[in-house]
Amino acid sequence: MGKDVIVACDFASAKETFAFLDRFTEEKPFVKIGMELYYAEGPEIVRQLKARGHKIFLDLKLHDIPNTVKKAMAVLRNLDVDIVNLHAAGTTAMMTAALEGLTRPDGSRPLLIAVTQLTSTDQEALERDLMIHAPIAEVVMHYARTARDAGLDGVVCSPLEAGKVHEVCGSAFLTVTPGVRFAGGDLGDQKRVMTPAAAKEIGSDYIVVGRPITAAPDPVAAYRRCVAEFCG
Ligand code: C5P
Repeated sequence: MGKDVIVACDFASAKETFAFLDRFTEEKPFVKIGMELYYAEGPEIVRQLKARGHKIFLDLKLHDIPNTVKKAMAVLRNLDVDIVNLHAAGTTAMMTAALEGLTRPDGSRPLLIAVTQLTSTDQEALERDLMIHAPIAEVVMHYARTARDAGLDGVVCSPLEAGKVHEVCGSAFLTVTPGVRFAGGDLGDQKRVMTPAAAKEIGSDYIVVGRPITAAPDPVAAYRRCVAEFCG
C-alpha cells in the first residue's frame, strides 16, 4: 500500500454516501469513514463499502484505557478495514494493547496509525487546557516517535509536517495527511493546507481529501485531478 488518495466520506447517511460513490463508474476510491457516518449507520456501512470493493480507513480515533481499546480493536479487526486509528495521547500502554487487539489469529492486521495533536489544537490551547508547555511542533514529533516505538505504522498529520515525521521516524513510517486543497481552491475551515502535488513532493504517503472532491461540481473529475497530481 502507499501513495493513494483517500476520499473523506463525511456524509450523514449510507444513502448519501452511496449516491456519491455511485458516480464513480471506472474507479473504486479508497474511502475514509469517520465518526458521523459510522455512528449513524453502524458497522454495516463498513461491510457494505467493503462488499463494493473499496479500501477503508476507519477514522474513529480511539482513546480509552488499554483494556477497553484492546477489546474494541478486536471487534474492529473483524470488519476487515485497511487502516484504523487512535490518539497517541492514550500512551504507549494503550497503543501496545491496541496492536494486540487488532492482530488476528493468523498474525495479519489492519494498519494502525496515530493522531498526534489535532490540527484544531493550537499552542495556546495546548498550554492553557492541556498544560503542555513544549512547542507544538516538538509535541507532534514526540508523539510520532512514541507511536513508532510502540510499533504503530504511522501518523495522521498535516502535510506540512510529513517531511519532518519521515526524518524523525524513518521513511517507512506512514504519513496520512488531510488539509489538502487545489491551488486557488476554497479553504473551508482548513488553515494550513497544501496542494496534492506539493504533498507528493514533501513525501506524504496518503492524502485525505474531503470537500475538494465531495463538494466539487464534478467529483469524479476532481478525484482524477487529485490522483494525477499526487500519484502521477
Ligand atoms: O473536507 P476536507 O478535505 O477538509 O476533509 C478533511 C478530512 O480529514 C475530514 O474528514 C477531517 O475530519 C479530517 N481531518 C482533518 N484534520 C485532522 C484530522 C482529520 O481535516 N487533523
